[in-house]
Amino acid sequence: MIGRLNHVAIAVPDLARAAAQYRDTLGASVGDPQDEPDHGVTVVFIDLPNTKIELLHPLGDASPITAFLAKNPAGGIHHLCYEVADIRAARDRLKAEGARVLGDGEPKTGAHGKPVLFLHPKDFNGCLIELEEQ
Ligand code: CO
Repeated sequence: MIGRLNHVAIAVPDLARAAAQYRDTLGASVGDPQDEPDHGVTVVFIDLPNTKIELLHPLGDASPITAFLAKNPAGGIHHLCYEVADIRAARDRLKAEGARVLGDGEPKTGAHGKPVLFLHPKDFNGCLIELEEQ
């Protein structure tokens, strides 16, 4: 059911510093910061030949990244995003298998303008999973 790894998201305490490190030290193609107020994050996308890296930094008071950075002050991997062809069919299958879908279960528009859902990390080996419809 899941397809390509769309991106690995890393929460970072200093977005400018992390973006400069990927651009200058690692020599990657790094985009400009984008505010995503609906998700409480500012993101920087890094294009790699086979996937993307998404640097996440808190935006606003209710950001889901704030608590993560409080627990992981140096930053850390926040989630993995897998592509699916039909996000509602994927959701229904996962719920039937007993997996918990976060929020109200309805797909929201993600950072790439496509429908996304998140799956509870306790159901997936401690790893928060994002599904993005292609
Ligand atoms: Co993501």
